[in-house]
Amino acid sequence: MLIKLNQVLNKNHCLDITEQLIAADWVLGESTAGHLAKNEKSNLQLAQDNPLAQNLGQFIVGQLANVSDFQAAAVPHKIFPPMFNCYQGGGTFGNHIDNAIRFHPQTGEAIRTDVSITVFLNEPDEYDGGELIIQDTYGEQKVKLAAGDAVLYPSTSLHQVTPVTRGRRLASFFWIQSFVADLVNRTTLYQLDKSIQDISLKLPNSQEAITLSGIYHNLLRQWSRGE
Ligand code: NI
Repeated sequence: MLIKLNQVLNKNHCLDITEQLIAADWVLGESTAGHLAKNEKSNLQLAQDNPLAQNLGQFIVGQLANVSDFQAAAVPHKIFPPMFNCYQGGGTFGNHIDNAIRFHPQTGEAIRTDVSITVFLNEPDEYDGGELIIQDTYGEQKVKLAAGDAVLYPSTSLHQVTPVTRGRRLASFFWIQSFVADLVNRTTLYQLDKSIQDISLKLPNSQEAITLSGIYHNLLRQWSRGE
């Protein structure tokens, strides 16, 4: 299931971030690709120990804490520090599945990648191509969002970024280890959460909403793993 998050960052945040990114020191993206993905990848990234990446990453994670749909969809346990990439001059990343386990660059802690997120940082009319194509349960989804919007998708999905043939595509991407590793369970909880929100609007303080909310938490208790 793909979930779009609107305006994780507002337009001013995006302008400020992209201005800083344009002036940053970029390295070749293949340095962090897995063994097979390496040959398919031609883009630029900020090094993980770049202080700018660390500062901007912390800011993005802070903004996400206020996005209720992110919490509901990802049920985040551990968040890999956000990374930043730049595609330009035909830059692309062919079809691949991301590594299952990543190690936190500062603490060395292992983080299982359950949910992937891409936050688009500049406007889609600033570049041609650069679509994120994700193989979803329901077929191929093409994603190219407004600056500040983000997409969440299961890290088990095959995905690619099409060549950027004009302009420059700037984005942040990272992974989340969810309390609920199982995609079916996570999707069920998300759908239940949305239904409870709908019912709470139609029937505020109703016994139905309270009962369903209790069921949500009992399922989460059963399905969550904190390792
Ligand atoms: Ni990827």
